[in-house]
This record gives sequence, C-alpha cells and structure tokens, in this order.
Amino acid sequence: MLFRGIREDIASVYQRDPAARHFFEVLTNYPGLHAIWIHRISHRLWRWRLRWLARWISTISRWFTGVEIHPGAKIGRRFFIDHGMGVVIGETAEIGDDCTLYHGVTLGGTSWKSGKRHPTLANGVVVGAGAKILGPLLIGENARIGSNSVVVRDVPEGVTVVGIPGRIVAGAKPSAEITARTEKDDAREAIAKKYGFDAYAVSKDNPDPVAMSIGRMLDHMHMLDNRVVEMCKAINSMGGNVCSDVPKIELEHEDFVQAEQEAAKSRNDVNQEQTNKVGKR
Ligand SMILES: CC(C)(COP(=O)(O)OP(=O)(O)OC[C@H]1O[C@@H](n2cnc3c(N)ncnc32)[C@H](O)[C@@H]1OP(=O)(O)O)[C@@H](O)C(=O)NCCC(=O)NCCS
Repeated sequence: MLFRGIREDIASVYQRDPAARHFFEVLTNYPGLHAIWIHRISHRLWRWRLRWLARWISTISRWFTGVEIHPGAKIGRRFFIDHGMGVVIGETAEIGDDCTLYHGVTLGGTSWKSGKRHPTLANGVVVGAGAKILGPLLIGENARIGSNSVVVRDVPEGVTVVGIPGRIVAGAKPSAEITARTEKDDAREAIAKKYGFDAYAVSKDNPDPVAMSIGRMLDHMHMLDNRVVEMCKAINSMGGNVCSDVPKIELEHEDFVQAEQEAAKSRNDVNQEQTNKVGKR
C-alpha cells in the first residue's frame, strides 16, 4: 500500500514536471515528495493522538525539505509540491486528489480561533509559486491560482484566479442573470429571424456594439409592426379594408444558405478574375 502510494506519487511527478528524467532521480531529489511521505507518517500519528511526536516529525521534515505541513492537514492522492521550499500548509487545510503546489505557497488561516480556519482544495487544483490562500475557503475543482496571488474568497471550479486580492480572469461561467432569457429576447429573436439577422457568437457577456445596435433596431421594428397590426385592425373594424395585401417577409433558413452560397461564388469569381489579370502581366 505504502509502496503503491510512493510509485503513484513518482508517476505524477513525470506528468507535471518535464525536468523529471528517471525514477531514482525523482525518488532522491524532490523535497516536496519527501515532505508528503513524511506527512503521511506524521498524520497517522496525529490521528493516533500522538500529537507531540507528530509535530516533532513534521518539524524535522521542515528542516530537511523546507516544507511545513501541519500533521493535522488532510491530503489526497497524487499531491505534488514542486520545488517545495517555503510551502506552509495549516492544520485544518484539506487537499483533494491530483493537486499541485509550487514553492512559497501558503494555505493559511486568518483567525486565531480554533476550528476550521484553513482552505479546502478540491481535486485537480494548481496553486502557483508564492500564492497565498487565506481562510476557510473552498477552491473548486481544477481551479488555477496564479503565482503570487492572494486569495481571500471562495473560488468556483475550473476558473483561473490572479492578483491581489485574487480575481477571476478566465473560465468563469456566466451568471444566471446574464444567461436568463427575457420576453424581449424572444421577441428580438423572432424578428431577427424574420429579417434574416443572425448575430452568431454574440451573447450578453460578450457584447458586440454593431449587434447591439441592430438589436435595438429590431426592437423598434417589432414595436412598429405591432402598431401597424393594431392600426389595421382598428381601421378594418370601422369598415375599412386595409392590410390585406401587406407583403409578408418570412425568410426561411434555406434562403440565407442559398444567398450565402451565391455571394461566396461571386467572391470566388472576382478573385479568380484578379488572379488571371496578374498572371497575364
Ligand atoms: C495563472 C496561470 C495558472 C495561468 O492560467 P491560464 O488559465 O492559462 O491563464 P492565462 O495564462 O491565459 O492568463 C490569463 C490572464 O491572467 C494574467 N496572468 C496570468 N498569470 C498571472 C499572475 N500570476 N499574476 C497576474 N496576472 C497573471 C495573464 O497575463 C492574462 O492576462 P490577459 O488576459 O490580460 O492577457 C499561470 O499564469 C500561473 O501563475 N501558473 C503558476 C506557475 C508557477 O508558479 N510556476 C512556477 C514554476 S517554478
């Protein structure tokens, strides 16, 4: 069991450090690995309530490896600390499987009260060199913390956080407020379809000024269309006979495909003509 764990840890180093060349090199030259192996012993002693011995072993480990892991910290499988020096992991920290820490990382507390006061890292989290994660925060699965960031709030899964205080710079899912559809969206989409406007890849969290202007024009057209229908109804109810021959513009998707194909053909023809002209010179 112990040896299987060691083999698994060494294999995970190959995956995450291109500098690792062979088994013996990794076994003997990675203080982060030595610290984790010693921690497994000290954690067991801690659970057996041999608290002083556990802490003493972790102190000895710190002398040799430069990595300070409190014996109470709970650490998952295939944890890798690259370079090691200066890493501090507090007593109530919890680390999931496949996490990676670089040198100088602190998983620290901000309170002097006992109880949960250190972060929890879900599976697959990467914490860059020098980053500090402070307090009983939850860092979501596969989140990436940029080097030298200071994280003081929970981090959702899959995002990248950088800076002081840490802020999300990549991978965030748009909020429910952004993705929520309104009646106005449905009306806009219906009229856009009617006039053949397709604002592909444009969303509320990725606004395009041209698409937004066209969207406003579509709203205006929708409003005018409704008014015309109301006026026609009113006039007809008074005995008039209007709107029966108002042409309807209902374009099908195939119409646009055909129009696009014709436009592409004419562009090709122009290009071909120019190429021929250059060839003749
Ligand atoms: C954060 C990190 C994981 C990259 O994540 P990513 O999702 O690939 O993010 P990107 O590289 O696309 O960067 C996103 C933005 O954050 C910025 N950024 C990246 N890392 C940053 C950092 N540590 N501090 C401040 N800004 C940072 C980038 O410049 C980019 O900004 P831009 O959008 O304005 O151009 C990586 O930069 C990092 O810090 N890794 C730790 C590596 C490490 O510690 N190595 C030590 C080896 S000894």
